[in-house]
Amino acid sequence: MGGQLKMLESCIFVIFGATGDLTHRKLMPALYRLYVRNELPKNFAVVGVARKDKTHDDFRQDVKKSMAEFLPKEKFDRLDKFLSGVFYYRNDFDTADSYAGLKKFLEDTDKKYRTAGNRIFYLATLPDKFEPIIKNLRKQKFLAKGKDHRLIIEKPFGDDLKSARKLNKIINTAFRENQIFRIDHYLGKEAVQNLFALRFANKIFEPAWGERNIENVQITLLENTGIGTRGGFYDRYGAIKDVMQNHMMQILSLIAMSPPKNFNPGEVKDSKVKVLREISIPKKNDIVIGQYRKGALKGSVDYKDEEGVAKDSRTETFAAIKFCINNERWKGVPFYLKTGKNLDRKLVQIIVYFRNTSLLSKFSGGIHPNALIIKLFPDEGIYLRMNIKTPGNNFEIENVSMDFCHSCLFVINTPEAYEKLLHDIFLGDPTLFTRWDEVEAAWKVIDPVIAKKKKIRLHYYSSGSPGPEAADRLVKKNGHHWGLEHM
Ligand SMILES: NC(=O)c1ccc[n+]([C@@H]2O[C@H](COP(=O)([O-])OP(=O)(O)OC[C@H]3O[C@@H](n4cnc5c(N)ncnc54)[C@H](OP(=O)(O)O)[C@@H]3O)[C@@H](O)[C@H]2O)c1
Repeated sequence: MGGQLKMLESCIFVIFGATGDLTHRKLMPALYRLYVRNELPKNFAVVGVARKDKTHDDFRQDVKKSMAEFLPKEKFDRLDKFLSGVFYYRNDFDTADSYAGLKKFLEDTDKKYRTAGNRIFYLATLPDKFEPIIKNLRKQKFLAKGKDHRLIIEKPFGDDLKSARKLNKIINTAFRENQIFRIDHYLGKEAVQNLFALRFANKIFEPAWGERNIENVQITLLENTGIGTRGGFYDRYGAIKDVMQNHMMQILSLIAMSPPKNFNPGEVKDSKVKVLREISIPKKNDIVIGQYRKGALKGSVDYKDEEGVAKDSRTETFAAIKFCINNERWKGVPFYLKTGKNLDRKLVQIIVYFRNTSLLSKFSGGIHPNALIIKLFPDEGIYLRMNIKTPGNNFEIENVSMDFCHSCLFVINTPEAYEKLLHDIFLGDPTLFTRWDEVEAAWKVIDPVIAKKKKIRLHYYSSGSPGPEAADRLVKKNGHHWGLEHM
């Protein structure tokens, strides 16, 4: 979608947080797959940076092990060649003195790999390290004029609007907006990108897209695991900040945005920002929050007994919220967002429920309103639920589903979200990254919700259950139900 773009010819890909989970689970496998397909810049090297003491070879061995684990179906005939261009540099992100050596190492690597001083800096580390790293990159003159520098930054982007603004200000002292790639890996998923195609490349959907035809929209991100080892971080955050402020708001904006005038990245983002700014702040009784307790889920404990969690924590591990959009297109249409941990299933999907036809009551049989279902997990695909006549002499209606299972049909060629996103960064295509005003608009909706949390009852739910019943009441009072189609 980014128009005429040119692949970056040379660069060093510097990963801050090279020993971490993200690097091993996602980044190195994605880089290797791009390498195998000749989709990396021609002159290219990777320098992983972290605190542990390791040699280049130790790091390569670690990467080899994680590749085998996270890319089980891959052939590794070119892995050694790829790894010969992968290096490790030990550095404490908080210690200013340790950056001079890293700078020199990158300059030496430039000479060997003809990477011309161009850098992509990936901040794959804890959010409290983003600021010291950026400050040091600027102060210690890593960002030479006339070179191509790009910054990739992971979520979370701030704790709230104030801290997000502060972080953005610091980033802007070193990088221009068009050099910043704020990752939201949900946007790299094929089915999410397909939302564009569905809405704007098919004549049938766009005229139907709005309050006249759509009854409600549901965005659901359910997990059947707890917080794992992220206790300290999660307890400060909670479900609303962890996934609603970013992934779920991004998806909401893609569904609700008006068609952009052109499909260039700027206009697509303008349209997304506009609709994010039109979201009304939910009322107290449109917000349900919950926290898990020990339950049927194997090994589960009360959330408050998880490591790193305060014994009197009121942090929500579950949230269901009704959002409304204050514009003509979506007047009166609820957008329900639901997320939670330690639930009875793992399921990520979007359902757009259409209104009943006025003739519905005239037919007999299992009639349901049309629904468009975009599934992201367990598999990726798109379903359109329709009513057709059952074969036979009686005029009975049956509910069928036209399905297009993306992950079934395109297993071999479907790039993982991180592959797609890294490839777009090499191309310089910002379409699937979050622009600052999108982040700001999302925090402006989420901050007041967080402020209301103190006055809202926290519902406890048993691990392995579908979550608090209050979430069902939230939709029932508007005559709706949570859709769990196609599990
Ligand atoms: N993991 C995922 O699947 C995932 C998915 C989406 C987003 N993210 C985001 O990606 C980022 C990284 O997550 P992660 O799960 O990879 O974290 P992680 O496993 O805890 O890794 C943190 C990395 O930062 C390094 N580090 C921390 N403090 C340091 C310091 N003072 N000096 C030098 N290195 C330091 C660690 O190095 P040492 O080990 O050497 O101390 C390690 O390499 C986070 O922002 C997270 O929200 C992660």
